[in-house]
Amino acid sequence: MPDEKTIEAYSYYYDHPVEFVQDIIKVKELEKEQIETLQSVVDNNRTAVKSGHGIGKTALEAWALIWFLMTRPMCRVPCTAPTQHQLYDILWAECRKWIQYAKLNNILEWTATKISVRGYENTWFAVARSSKQPENMQGFHEDNILFIIEEASGVEQPIMEVVEGALTNKGAKLLMVGNPTKISGTFYDAFHRDRAEYSTFTYNGENSARVDKGWIKRMARYGTDSNIYRVRVKGEFPKGEPDTFITLDIIEPAIDRQLTDNKFVVRIGVDPAREGDDESVICVAEGLKILPLHAYMNCDGPMLANHVLKIAKDYRTSGYKETINVKVDATGLGTSPLDHLNYLQGLERVKAEEEKEFDINVIPLENGSAATNNDYKNFGSQMWGEMKELLKVCSIPNDLDLIAQLSTRKYTLTDVDKIWLERKKDMKKPPRKLPSPDRADALALCLTENLNFNMSNIEGSIITETRRVF
Ligand SMILES: Nc1ncnc2c1ncn2[C@@H]1O[C@H](COP(=O)(O)OP(=O)(O)OP(=O)(O)O)[C@@H](O)[C@H]1O
Ligand SMILES: [Mg+2]
Repeated sequence: MPDEKTIEAYSYYYDHPVEFVQDIIKVKELEKEQIETLQSVVDNNRTAVKSGHGIGKTALEAWALIWFLMTRPMCRVPCTAPTQHQLYDILWAECRKWIQYAKLNNILEWTATKISVRGYENTWFAVARSSKQPENMQGFHEDNILFIIEEASGVEQPIMEVVEGALTNKGAKLLMVGNPTKISGTFYDAFHRDRAEYSTFTYNGENSARVDKGWIKRMARYGTDSNIYRVRVKGEFPKGEPDTFITLDIIEPAIDRQLTDNKFVVRIGVDPAREGDDESVICVAEGLKILPLHAYMNCDGPMLANHVLKIAKDYRTSGYKETINVKVDATGLGTSPLDHLNYLQGLERVKAEEEKEFDINVIPLENGSAATNNDYKNFGSQMWGEMKELLKVCSIPNDLDLIAQLSTRKYTLTDVDKIWLERKKDMKKPPRKLPSPDRADALALCLTENLNFNMSNIEGSIITETRRVF
């Protein structure tokens, strides 16, 4: 428990968060973006920061939390984020990192959901509250209160309304930070309709010393005017793109989506590289959870087939006994890994069940072949259509190449109103000059139910299967 003298000493920093971070947390160099945002929290009741990826947002939230907590006796700092991952694995972990770095453990007690001042566990604390239920943010009526909202674009509107209600208390403050992914809600309004009530900042990663220039270059391949570049690099809200097939507002909520059902069917999609600068990609799904993608440069057919086998073997070793559907793009070069997989599958099939090292069912699919659903011009377009629907319920990794590839492909309607996805060769040549959407294609292959998919019955087809026993 801190004594009177210690509390008094920290009170010097009441209006000086930057000095606090330098002197007490002992951060050597704060970025100019971090300095002005911290100062804004002193000078304003509402601060909103939209920014590109990696400029140091979460760190500054953690510092703001620690500073507020240590300079305001009996204060509360409720925090939330759209997903458990963002809240606990990112924001809360960042707080722990800096509490340890500053050696403040003797004053602050970090637990999985609460950071409290020792001796005052029930009256003086910061708390991580999941944004699933609005009531999680209710009950904070103190004057000394700082709400911290991580990745604020993604937080559901009902919880934001509770926070807005609590801000009517004198002295209650709000710090909202995030990538500007959505063009509605409190975060969007802070930069538009309600701008007069907020101190707002926009940070462009192109100007930040913390952001890797190589990464910016990689993102620029998808177009510096693409939505992915606007949102993730420049910190700008996405613009309307009526001819884009899968827009960011569908993709963003799928990133690290929390799924409750953890019994699953494993499925695999394989998109072999066609040209030198393309990637070969393997996408594995456990039910509706898409695992981080395996992407390889310069990987020949047999090598790619062996990577797939290793994954299938690992599942079997760990107790998964179902046959795994492996859907492979069989267009052009796709045939090489396909032949190899077919050959290996054949060898394995003749073994007795208990001797089998893996159990796969190789399914060749061709983008250019006929669609089985009349709404689409070809099977490739149909797979993307299925994927678009499933993105509303599945969970994808935070893979910015995947997100970029999903969000840049355009479509047209044929003269008989069939959906026709932009052809890959058109995407690659001027004026588009985009990278091949290998990762997105691997995901589409992985998710497609092949000929049985029923667009109007997602629950029936996929979700029921996720309940099969592992
Ligand atoms: N001024 C700083 N000094 C030292 N380390 C820092 C500083 N700012 C940020 N970091 C560290 O750099 C890493 C990336 O920063 P941070 O996570 O805050 O960025 P971000 O903008 O939140 O990124 P994202 O867009 O991925 O959410 C973290 O490990 C963080 O602790
Ligand atoms: Mg962050």
